[in-house]
Amino acid sequence: MKTQMSTRMLVCALLAAAPAFAQDATSPQPWMDAGKSPDARAALLVAAMTQDEKFALIRSRFAIGEKKPEEALTAAGYVAPIPRLGIPAQTLVDAGLGVTNPGGARTGDHATAMPSGPMTASTWSRDIAFKGGETMGREAWRQGFNVLLAGSVNLQRDPRNGRNFEYAGEDPLLAGTLVGESIRGVQSQHVLSTMKHYALNDMETARNTHSAEIGDRAMHESDLLAFHVAIEIGQPGSVMCSYNRINGTYGCEHDELLNNVLKRDWRYPGYVMSDWGGVHSASKAANAGLDQQSAGEVFDKAVYFDVPLRMAVGAGVVPQARLDDMVHRILRSFIAVGAFEHPPQRQPVDAALDAMGFDVAQRTAEAGAVLLRNENGVLPLAPGVRRIAVIGGHADKGVIAGGGSSMVGWTSRGTSAVTGVQPTTWPGPVMFQPSSPLLALREALPDARIDYAEGRDRAAAARLAREADVAIVFATQWAAESVDLPDMRLPDGQDALIAAVAAANPRSVVVLQTNGPVELPWIEAVPGVLQAWYPGIRGGEAIARLLTGAVNPSGHLPVTWPVDVSQLPRPTIPGLGFNPAQKPEDTIDYDIEGANVGYRWFVAKGLSPRYAFGHGLSYTTFATSDLQVRADGERIVARFTVRNTGERDGVAVPQLYVHLPQGHATPLRLAGWDRIELDAGETREVEVALAPRLFADYHPNDRSWRIAAGDYTVVLGQSAIDTGERAALTLPARRLD
Ligand code: BGC
Repeated sequence: MKTQMSTRMLVCALLAAAPAFAQDATSPQPWMDAGKSPDARAALLVAAMTQDEKFALIRSRFAIGEKKPEEALTAAGYVAPIPRLGIPAQTLVDAGLGVTNPGGARTGDHATAMPSGPMTASTWSRDIAFKGGETMGREAWRQGFNVLLAGSVNLQRDPRNGRNFEYAGEDPLLAGTLVGESIRGVQSQHVLSTMKHYALNDMETARNTHSAEIGDRAMHESDLLAFHVAIEIGQPGSVMCSYNRINGTYGCEHDELLNNVLKRDWRYPGYVMSDWGGVHSASKAANAGLDQQSAGEVFDKAVYFDVPLRMAVGAGVVPQARLDDMVHRILRSFIAVGAFEHPPQRQPVDAALDAMGFDVAQRTAEAGAVLLRNENGVLPLAPGVRRIAVIGGHADKGVIAGGGSSMVGWTSRGTSAVTGVQPTTWPGPVMFQPSSPLLALREALPDARIDYAEGRDRAAAARLAREADVAIVFATQWAAESVDLPDMRLPDGQDALIAAVAAANPRSVVVLQTNGPVELPWIEAVPGVLQAWYPGIRGGEAIARLLTGAVNPSGHLPVTWPVDVSQLPRPTIPGLGFNPAQKPEDTIDYDIEGANVGYRWFVAKGLSPRYAFGHGLSYTTFATSDLQVRADGERIVARFTVRNTGERDGVAVPQLYVHLPQGHATPLRLAGWDRIELDAGETREVEVALAPRLFADYHPNDRSWRIAAGDYTVVLGQSAIDTGERAALTLPARRLD
């Protein structure tokens, strides 16, 4: 009772103290002057706002379900506009693999279901990543949204993480660069992008409670580096703090990560929004740097950023200046992307734009599928191939997608091509994008006889394979937000199916559609393997063009492909399948590998993966030569020659790895790469600027990145374990900005 009374009194006092209406004397709305900087405009606005208006901006509401504000579009979040000040509504929608379009089936909006994050990362192409972002931004804007909850850059530390399909692999430079480009693409359309999930939300098991334990230096040289690179390139309007705890403290209450690292050291000017259900306090979170609570009325124990925060501000526990800073950060981000001048407007469906989005999705899938294995030229399918057996994976209907908040459930091709696959409720339903590889193959090879067996009957599948010139098995693995995969195996007896088909026909090919690496126990019997990730709305067409050679594969793994879980830093996932009667394990010790994520772990431990980070075959071959590396002032530059030594046009992805001086705890790091289209026989001189930060170490004592004086070796390779050409480089000691 006492609390209730004092709450009411405080709120009244606050309302009385705030200006009801404050405006510049000369111009009614000086913050609308686009000639002024976003910060100057935001400052003018904050000065004109009442306390209630400020509080209205720092919490979003869930716009799905019974509490949805009536005027809001059906989507993840909504903040009402403030018309008297010209502040637009904040309309938030998921996510990084396309506009999820929760109301799309009803409204008939079109959205492009993009390929998964690792598939975009496998392109190693800044341009393709940008175009994917641009497509999603454009489609979000045309559906009335100005915030896309896209920009997921958590590092892949474990192939079993249920959300790997939303992320961009294991390397901080590659992931940070491509996600940064995608964010830049989104924001080019006057739609804010939200980089997430900050930080170390690298596993889904017990994600709302577990603590990621990791030392300062290791954290900065791995996950935080990925975030930092993405911020520098993409300048996202917002950053979403994560559910989990980091060294014991919740992501959305983490003073060190939010205030010190993000906002002070990285000079991040945007705002921090919580993940949905990630807030546990008012003053602690606000003082630690959280700027906006997301959908607290549905997902948190309380709407902390309403009455509890008003009390805290009234009592001086949270300074008024902090509240003003929260509002300022939100407003300046919307102003910076042009959301005031270009408010999103629902547009009628435009078939040409829809087709453009689908083309971007297809190009991404074509460039991001990774040809893992190709023995005896089993691929591309020979032009005269007469009989093909296509088996399994619902290839007659579509391609699988990942589950959870990022799932695009509706496109102009309608909804899932396959229904009833379990689970049908959260984090399902299991979605198959309507893009059939079988139909696309039939269209591409009209003279071939292509039969289909759904694969549940292994003997029937083997019979069909035996009669064919080539047998292609489509294998799927579904993964979803909020749950990790129990192991690295293909589910539902698919390994046995593949083994049976391979025994029946030595010219067998497996097309994998998975979250990421899986065990391949049948690999010696299968000459061709194409990793097609979750390939999106034109996945079927892209796969057909790759298999037939209309497109030459050029994807390279953005993750190491382990043989099995015994090679991982944590063969068992802490907390997975715990006995509810016991206390669950609630910490994950990331210090086991520290900054040695993925290939760095494999090299440090002398382990041989199934396929190395960076691996990817082509239907042609490439040779590199004449590597020279020099320090040019602050720049470190590699020059070399690449030649297409085969008979087909293709795309080379030469990679440059730095080996640190003897005795360094991190054995090697990707420092640069290029993606070069080369005609058959063509030679090109290439110059690649290497990232100085990858030659440096992070020093927690003075929070600096410093290159140690010493001898470095740069290796030019086609994967992380390729022992290609080497160049020596001696560097003086240097502190980076
Ligand atoms: C996810 C976020 C997502 C949010 C809103 C959360 O469960 O972790 O990635 O943006 O929901 O849907």
